[in-house]
Amino acid sequence: MKTFAFLNPLWVRCRRQRGLALVAGTGILLLAVISCGSLTQQAVVLPDVPGAKYVGSADCEQCHDELCRDFKTADHARLMARGKNGINAGCESCHGPCSIHEDSGGEVKPPYSFTAGRPQPESLSGRFPLDPEHAVENTCYKCHMDVRGQFNLPNHHPVPEGRMTCIQCHPPHKGIAHAGGSTQLLSQEENCTQCHESQQGLYVFEHEAMREGCTSCHTPHGSVNAKLLTERNANLCLKCHFQQVKDGSAILIGGVDHTSRLSQGACWSAGCHEAVHGSRVSPSLRF
Ligand code: HEC
Ligand code: HEC
Ligand code: HEC
Ligand code: HEC
Ligand code: HEC
Ligand code: HEC
Ligand code: HEC
Repeated sequence: MKTFAFLNPLWVRCRRQRGLALVAGTGILLLAVISCGSLTQQAVVLPDVPGAKYVGSADCEQCHDELCRDFKTADHARLMARGKNGINAGCESCHGPCSIHEDSGGEVKPPYSFTAGRPQPESLSGRFPLDPEHAVENTCYKCHMDVRGQFNLPNHHPVPEGRMTCIQCHPPHKGIAHAGGSTQLLSQEENCTQCHESQQGLYVFEHEAMREGCTSCHTPHGSVNAKLLTERNANLCLKCHFQQVKDGSAILIGGVDHTSRLSQGACWSAGCHEAVHGSRVSPSLRF
């Protein structure tokens, strides 16, 4: 069994410095250490599949050239640091060891493949138990265990229910692993509004918060709060709208006296700012 080590927690901390990492090219490791200070390594054990070996991403190019070309700039391509005795297993970190697949000229599917409709070939049956309903996310959870926890929260996108998968928001093969990342045609908001059309805008009075993105108020994976909100009460709004206290007791928000209103419920309920995304009629987003 091979062990591939890479820099999981470190990269989370370096996320905002992606520009640097790009410039650095092969110097990612060194630069990351300099810019983030501390280094924690996390070893991930790629699954051992009887009879199959890891062949390395370079081999995939022979037959999947277009996909491999795109993959060169993908998050997961850059980050799969080579293990001590390792080959670059970028593709196989998700698809599993591909020697049987390669030797069969593609006839036998890789151990982890997700395309519905093509059953696992006879020669592999039973060897790679993978719940087909959850094949994608279980593959991702091998390395992103924290995300599994987020989807276990009471309110979540229906990934555990099998009604959507990670890759509807995270393209695995191309560019930044976030739909709406800088190299993609869609913005992150457009990715959200493809499914949530009524938040798409065309408001006469747009709530300017929308310009900071949906994730300024919603957590994408899961939340303890209804509607995937990051906060369940006025704190959500007070992140950006400061409270002022006037004459020792009156609470002003946006210059308007809210003293008695704050006890009536969340800002977007109780008939107040119900059109929280934007309104066609009310500049104060009432309806
Ligand atoms: C000798 C040619 C060849 C090589 C080398 C090869 N493949 Fe394939 N692969 C194919 C063919 C043919 C198919 C089936 C047609 C298709 O889906 O493109 C396929 C299909 C796939 C599929 C989709 C399977 C499904 O139906 O769900 C995956 C995933 C895949 N290959 C991954 C890889 C990876 C990863 C590598 C490198 C480690 C690799 N392949 C190397 C020929 C090859
Ligand atoms: C982060 C995980 C991940 C990595 C890394 C990854 N894949 Fe995939 N791959 C997937 C998922 C998930 C699907 C299913 C896509 C779908 O259903 O649209 C897929 C589908 C495929 C397919 C079949 C469908 C298609 O788009 O043609 C092929 C072939 C394939 N991958 C090859 C590769 C190769 C070659 C590499 C490396 C250059 C690679 N993959 C790297 C997760 C990954
Ligand atoms: C073999 C381990 C491994 C697998 C499998 C894997 N990833 Fe990753 N992924 C990483 C590492 C390492 C990083 C970079 C460090 C980080 O951000 O956690 C990363 C980065 C990401 C990022 C970018 C995070 C950021 O900081 O911007 C997303 C999104 C992501 N992965 C989603 C997925 C999805 C979706 C799948 C399944 C289709 C998947 N990953 C499968 C290891 C893996
Ligand atoms: C509805 C769209 C959506 C779905 C579905 C989704 N994600 Fe995400 N994910 C996002 C967005 C948006 C972010 C960026 C969050 C931010 O910037 O605050 C993110 C962030 C991440 C990150 C980096 C930050 C972190 O929390 O570690 C990883 C890794 C990740 N997602 C993995 C996954 C995996 C694995 C799945 C499937 C089990 C998944 N995501 C499903 C939208 C989604
Ligand atoms: C592929 C389609 C898809 C994408 C992309 C998507 N969502 Fe969703 N979203 C859903 C589905 C399906 C539900 C569950 C609705 C249900 O259970 O009726 C949901 C639920 C929600 C909810 C909770 C609604 C409620 O009534 O509780 C919010 C908020 C939300 N999504 C925001 C977002 C944001 C923000 C993004 C972008 C980061 C996003 N969605 C991307 C399909 C999607
Ligand atoms: C200023 C904060 C904020 C921003 C930004 C925001 N939302 Fe919301 N969203 C809310 C609040 C608050 C609710 C709950 C409204 C309610 O319960 O009446 C909500 C509810 C939702 C719902 C559930 C609607 C329903 O009828 O139950 C969806 C879907 C949603 N938002 C999607 C999005 C999308 C997509 C974006 C980005 C384009 C976005 N939101 C940006 C605050 C925000
Ligand atoms: C990400 C930052 C952000 C968040 C979070 C946010 N807002 Fe806003 N909001 C703005 C900005 C920026 C404006 C436009 C400038 C202004 O009027 O203060 C605005 C304007 C408004 C207005 C119009 C004010 C007027 O009379 O012109 C209302 C009403 C409003 N927000 C209510 C809310 C409510 C309710 C919430 C919580 C659900 C909320 N906002 C959360 C940034 C935010």
